[in-house]
Amino acid sequence: MEEFQNKTALVTGGSRGLGEAFCRKLSEAGCRVIVNYAHGREAAERVASEIGGVALGCDISQEDSVKAMFEEIGGVDILINNARVDPYKRGSDCSDGEWWDQVMGVNLKGAYLCGKFALEEMKRKRWGRMLHISSLWAYQPAKERMLSYAAAKSAMHAMSRGFANLGAPCGITSNVLAPGLILTKLISERLSAEALAREMAGIPLNRGATPEEIAEAGINLMRSGFITGEIVNINGGAFMRP
Ligand SMILES: NC(=O)c1ccc[n+]([C@@H]2O[C@H](COP(=O)([O-])OP(=O)(O)OC[C@H]3O[C@@H](n4cnc5c(N)ncnc54)[C@H](OP(=O)(O)O)[C@@H]3O)[C@@H](O)[C@H]2O)c1
Repeated sequence: MEEFQNKTALVTGGSRGLGEAFCRKLSEAGCRVIVNYAHGREAAERVASEIGGVALGCDISQEDSVKAMFEEIGGVDILINNARVDPYKRGSDCSDGEWWDQVMGVNLKGAYLCGKFALEEMKRKRWGRMLHISSLWAYQPAKERMLSYAAAKSAMHAMSRGFANLGAPCGITSNVLAPGLILTKLISERLSAEALAREMAGIPLNRGATPEEIAEAGINLMRSGFITGEIVNINGGAFMRP
């Protein structure tokens, strides 16, 4: 099993929720952590200062910005492709096509761009770990709100296998972690007690995950240099549902 002491880790969307949990766990594991954000500078700087990391603003849907971010960092050993457009944040004047572009731009293109830039330095070092955060929505028939989100997550699985293929000759691994409900602060505040209870009732283990246990599982997955091109589902037993 690999040790992560002194590795450089980039967590996209590290300012809150699952991304924040990854930042904290990677720091505990000895990494130098880059806390990426797009809008939440204050939140990202708070996380970074508490873990001795660096907050770096970059809208990952913009190729020039991602290029500049990687030039500033000088490459990473570990990439957590975690950032997403919040599916509840669609503007009232946003057309279907604009929304598709926004979601795909961050959740898929952004992840792809970060993977491409990360791979260059990983290949030079002949070591690297990529983890792409997907969702149970990659498998479930999507509700209207989640359609582009689900499509982006599903495509992420193919993208991860591609990176696994490209990285394998240099010992670089690429895997997907696909969680079900995660009880982030945002989710807990957004869902009413009744809505939350309904969600839990559909989960065989009868609860949502904590961000910390999902991050822990992701880090343990990356500790193996022999697991690559895989999808790890962590959803409280959702696939046991009849
Ligand atoms: N929460 C769940 O129940 C759940 C379930 C399954 C899978 N997931 C997956 O887990 C991951 C994290 O989810 P979460 O609930 O923690 O998400 P979240 O609270 O909505 O946080 C999203 C993060 O992405 C960042 N972000 C948004 N647009 C960006 C952009 N253009 N460039 C860079 N960063 C950007 C946000 O930063 P700013 O605030 O700075 O914009 C924020 O840090 C996502 O991939 C999500 O799909 C979540």
